[in-house]
Amino acid sequence: MARPKVKTYREQSFDQLKGLDGISAAQIAEHLGLYAGYVKQVNVLNEKLAEKLAAGKASGTDPEFAELTRHLGFEYNGMILHEYYFSNLRPRSEPAPPSSSGLGRALADTFGSVDAWKTDFQGMGGMRGIGWVILFQDPATDRLTNHWISLHQDGVPAGFKPLLVMDVWEHAFMRDYKASEKKQYIEAFFRNVDWSAVQRRLEEDAATRPAVAA
Ligand SMILES: [Fe+2]
Repeated sequence: MARPKVKTYREQSFDQLKGLDGISAAQIAEHLGLYAGYVKQVNVLNEKLAEKLAAGKASGTDPEFAELTRHLGFEYNGMILHEYYFSNLRPRSEPAPPSSSGLGRALADTFGSVDAWKTDFQGMGGMRGIGWVILFQDPATDRLTNHWISLHQDGVPAGFKPLLVMDVWEHAFMRDYKASEKKQYIEAFFRNVDWSAVQRRLEEDAATRPAVAA
């Protein structure tokens, strides 16, 4: 059987991350290293699955094919969500979007106020377990909702557009904070949100992120 063409993803650099408040350069460097691992694993998985298909082993009864396939969502979203996360951070930011901005108005429309949205989003961040908190827009209704994503892949509403992505895996903060100090990390995260990036995502028709695959 013909071997499918595989696009290879390239690790992105996020040069704007220097000088964050409460998230150290060492923390970011370690985290970027983990992100690079996801990019590598996506490429490895896609290559291996293409080989399986070419070898006539794309079968649910082939345990290796099944296991590689099960990992796809985990590795892909590990790469994708980190690309959103790093690109919605920057130093010297405001603690919240201006209430007069499109984003501020959209949040207030759904949640009553930007503060109420923030309380909900931060409250989800305090949940037990590892995962992500994501502000999504449903493109079909324009409604904004906060979601908890377990691991990287469990709970992502299909086709929704991520606007603000917060990593609450322990690896995101445990160089700077203790396991019991997730709240401090979440407060630090909010001191470094690039609200103009979030606003751009709201305005763009499709979900876009820094990514290159060739
Ligand atoms: Fe992470």
